[in-house]
Amino acid sequence: MGQSKKTYYITTPIYYPSAKLHIGHTYCTSVADTIARFKRLVGYDVRFLTGSDEHGQKIQRAAEAEGITPLEYTTNIVNGFKALWEKMHISNDDFIRTTDARHEKVVQELFTKAYEKGDIYKAEYEGWYCTPDETFWTEQKLGPNHTCPDCGRPVERVKEESYFFKLGKYTDQWLQFIEENPDFIQPESRRNEMIQFVKQGLEDLAVSRTSFDWGIKVPFDPKHVVYVWFDALVNYISALAPFDGDGELYKRYWPADLHLVGKEIVRFHTIIWPMMLMSLELPIPKKVFGHGWMIVDGTKMSKSLGNVIDPNPLIDTYGADSLRYYLLSEIQLGNDGNFTLPNFVTKINADLSNDLGNLLNRTIAMIQKYHDGVITKTADIDELDKEISTLAEKTVADFEAQMEAMEINKALKTVWAFIGRMNKYIDETMPWVLAKSEAESDVLRLQSVMYHLAESLRIIAVLVSPVIPVGAPKIWNQLGLAGFNEAQLDTVRTWGGIESGTTVVKGEPIYPRFEIPEMVDVVETEKDVEEVDTSAIPPLKEHITYDDFDKLDLRVAKVLTCEKVPKSKKLLKFTLDIGLEERTVVSGISQYYEPEQMIGKKVIYLANLAPKKLMGIESYGMILSGSDWEENLEVTNIESLPAGSIVK
Ligand code: ME8
Ligand code: MG
Repeated sequence: MGQSKKTYYITTPIYYPSAKLHIGHTYCTSVADTIARFKRLVGYDVRFLTGSDEHGQKIQRAAEAEGITPLEYTTNIVNGFKALWEKMHISNDDFIRTTDARHEKVVQELFTKAYEKGDIYKAEYEGWYCTPDETFWTEQKLGPNHTCPDCGRPVERVKEESYFFKLGKYTDQWLQFIEENPDFIQPESRRNEMIQFVKQGLEDLAVSRTSFDWGIKVPFDPKHVVYVWFDALVNYISALAPFDGDGELYKRYWPADLHLVGKEIVRFHTIIWPMMLMSLELPIPKKVFGHGWMIVDGTKMSKSLGNVIDPNPLIDTYGADSLRYYLLSEIQLGNDGNFTLPNFVTKINADLSNDLGNLLNRTIAMIQKYHDGVITKTADIDELDKEISTLAEKTVADFEAQMEAMEINKALKTVWAFIGRMNKYIDETMPWVLAKSEAESDVLRLQSVMYHLAESLRIIAVLVSPVIPVGAPKIWNQLGLAGFNEAQLDTVRTWGGIESGTTVVKGEPIYPRFEIPEMVDVVETEKDVEEVDTSAIPPLKEHITYDDFDKLDLRVAKVLTCEKVPKSKKLLKFTLDIGLEERTVVSGISQYYEPEQMIGKKVIYLANLAPKKLMGIESYGMILSGSDWEENLEVTNIESLPAGSIVK
C-alpha cells in the first residue's frame, strides 16, 4: 500500500520564533513548497515538513523581556507562522514544534543513545557564545572585538558545566562520506567550504547548557538542557515518530531526500548533523542545498538589523501566487536576491497578467465567440501547428529536467517562452480574419487554432501549478476540464489531451494588473509596513485605442504668470507659453501651490480641450496633475524640454 511509489522527503529549516517571519523565510518555504508540489506532480509519495525551533537562551530572554512564559511567547509567534504558510498556500504535510512532546521524547532518546555509546561526556565549557545564532565559538575563530565570525554581533563569555559530543571522532568517516556522495552538499562551492572547515580540525561540541533552563532536559542529568542545535536538528527525524508503534513513517521516509536551508546554516546541516547520525548509526540525508539570502542594500534581511520586508501586506495586496512567482523566477537557487516593489509589480504585470492572463482571456473569449465555447479536437493541419505541438512536448521535457536539477527559474523561463510563443501564434494565425471566412479550409483552420491554444493552456496549467497553485486550477477550470488535483505530469507529456465537446467557461481574469508603485520603501523599520488600502484606489478605466489617445494634444508648457483668482478658494489663473502661442488657463490647485511656486515651471498641458468659462475667465485647456485618493496633488513636470514639445 503506497509503499510501491517512490518517496520524497523534503524539509525547510525550523524557524526561530524570536523573529517575525519576513520574505527571507517566505522565500525558503516557497522554494521547498514548489519542489514538493513538483515531486507530487511527477508521482512521488511526498512528505514535506516545516516547523519552529523554540528552545534556547535567546527565546528565554525574549519571553522574560515581555513578562510571559517562553511557551506563551513562542505559541503566539508560531500561530503567526502557521497563518502565513496557509496564506502562501504552503502544502506542508506536518508542522513540528520542538516543544511538542513527540519531539522532546525523541531528542531525549537519541541523546541518551549517543551518551551510552560513549560519544557524549561531561566536562566544563569555557569559551564564547553567539546568542542570536546560538553558536559556540573558540577565541581563535572570533571576529574583531569579540564578535561572531558569522553574523558580526558581539559574543558572550560562557563558563559552565556541559556535556560534549565527540565531533572530531567522526572526521575521517565524514570525509569519506563526502567523497562517496559528491552531491550531498549543494551548491558545489559550499561543499569545498565545508571540506576546508573540517580539515582544519574539529573540537568536540558542547551539547548541553546549565546556565538557563528553557530546553529539553537531559534525562539522566536534569540540571542540563540539550543544546538548541542538537535539539533542533533532530526535528527532521522526530516528526517521523521513529519510536511510535513500528515506526512506519520513519521507515517510509528516512533518510530525507532534501534539507533545504539558508547558506549560513549549511555547516550545521552538513557537518554536525551527519556526525550526530553517524554516532547514532542512522542513515544520512541524501542532499543539503544551501540557498542564498534575500538582501536589502547589500545586507541580509534580518529582524535584528531592522530591515525586513513583511510578506503579509504583499500577499494581501498582490496575492500569494504573485509573491511566489516573483521569488522563484527572479532568483537562481543558491544566489542572493533583492526585492524591490517596483520590480516585483513590473514582473508580475508582465508575466502573470499580460503573458499568461491575456493568453487565457483571449483564448476563452475567442472559443466562445467563434464556437459557442465548444472545443473540437483537430490534428495538426500545417507546419505551424506541428511546430506548436512539438514545442509543447519539448517544453514539458525541458521543464521537468530543469526542475529535477533544481533550476526553478530556468524551468519557469522555459514555460514562459512557450506562453510567449502561443501569444505570437494568435497574431500569426489571425483568428478574427479566419472567422469572417466561410471557406471550408478556413473553418477547419479556425478550429485547429482554437484547439492548439486550449491544449497549450492545459499543459501550461499543469506546469505552472507548483509555483502558482492558486491560478493554475483556474486556468484548468476555465478550459472546462475537471479533476485538476489528480492531473499529473504524465497527463501533459503528450499532446492532445483535450477531447472534442469540452466547453470552456469564462471566468474572471486570473491575474489583475497593478499600478507600478513609486520606489516606496517597503522595508519595515519601526512597526508594521504601512498597508496599501487598494479598495480606496479607483478602478482602472476601459481600454481606449491608440487613435483615441492620439486625439489628445498634449504639450510641454511654460508658466509665464500665475495669480490667485479673486474670491475663489481653489482657482489659480495662469498664462502659459506653449511654443506657438500663449494661453490663459484656470486651474483648481490653489490649495496645493502658491502662485510664486508655479512661475517658470514647465508643466504638461492638454491643449485641445474645449474652452470653458470659470469665474468669468475664459480658460483654455488643462494643466495635468496627479492626485491620490486622500489630500495630495502634484502638477506634472517636464523641465528639460522646450515649450511646445509634444507629449505622448
Ligand atoms: O537558523 N533570506 O532559524 P532562523 C533568505 N532555527 N533566507 C533567510 C533570510 C533571508 N534574509 N533570513 C533567514 C535557524 N533566512 C534555526 C534553524 S534547522 C534545524 C534550525 C533563512 O529562523 C535562514 O537562512 O534564524 C534559515 O535557513 C531559515 O531562514 C531559518 O532561520
Ligand atoms: Mg538565523
